[in-house]
Amino acid sequence: MTTPGPVPSTVPALPLNSGGSIPQLGLGTWPLDDAAVEKAVVAAAGLGYRHVDTAVKYGNEVGVGRGLTASGVARDEWFVTTKLDGEYQGQDRAVAGLEASLERLGLDYVDLLLIHWPLPARDEFVSTWETFVRLREAGKARAIGVSNFKPAHLDRLIDATGIVPAVNQIQLSPAITRREQRAYDAERGILTESWSPLGGGQGDLLSAPVLAQLAQKHGRTPAQIVLRWHIQNGLVVIPKSANPQRMADNLAAFAFELDTDDLRALDSLDEGPGAGVDSDRSGH
Ligand code: A2P
Repeated sequence: MTTPGPVPSTVPALPLNSGGSIPQLGLGTWPLDDAAVEKAVVAAAGLGYRHVDTAVKYGNEVGVGRGLTASGVARDEWFVTTKLDGEYQGQDRAVAGLEASLERLGLDYVDLLLIHWPLPARDEFVSTWETFVRLREAGKARAIGVSNFKPAHLDRLIDATGIVPAVNQIQLSPAITRREQRAYDAERGILTESWSPLGGGQGDLLSAPVLAQLAQKHGRTPAQIVLRWHIQNGLVVIPKSANPQRMADNLAAFAFELDTDDLRALDSLDEGPGAGVDSDRSGH
């Protein structure tokens, strides 16, 4: 479906609990390599994207940084997230980890720094969080948060430090709804951000009959229906695409609305609480 590139102001920003705000939709970048991500970031910028999500583990921070520069968009208009994986947990390893990320990205600070996985068996995420708090105080990360954390992990972080993460980025889609985690996050002022919001292009989320029906009803694509579901649920969403037409389609999810019947119909896609990756057992 062809849609003109909307101006940047069409992406609303949601407030973060530590100050500032995050554009509700950004560009996901896994598994793009440096060359592909550089092109993708430039194309996305031209369409109005101002939010890019990467991670050390994606191995593409150099390309993201080149794309940011080549976009010609001023640094302070961008919202850039990176994540540090298990290699950087414990013993202040996150300090050198973020320094190396910043060097690859060509930036002085990131807008959001996330602990990529809790890795509860290692039991180092609380001390890592303490390091993150210091990195925020030093201005190297404007906001700090977590990814793939469950209520039990967050309880420990918050009880030990009193510092509530700004964001929890989790696998989330109409098929993997994480209702309990979303309620937990909302009660504590943590923004929930959806990774693989379109189901990762795997499985059959986008080909579900209910999405075809709603796409027809609204004159939109199934992907736009799914992204609109995230938006109306107050989630931050980072669909990955290397295809400029799809990037534009994904941004245009702000240009229409689902009604309560539509949202109820989408509930039929929910695969139940056991769906998706289990972060007690996964991650790096
Ligand atoms: P592509 O990069 O070729 O556009 P997720 O963000 O949930 O992980 O999903 C990413 C997958 O969904 C990628 O395979 C991406 O492919 C595909 N995708 C992204 N946007 C759209 C869209 N608007 N319509 C269909 N597929 C899409």
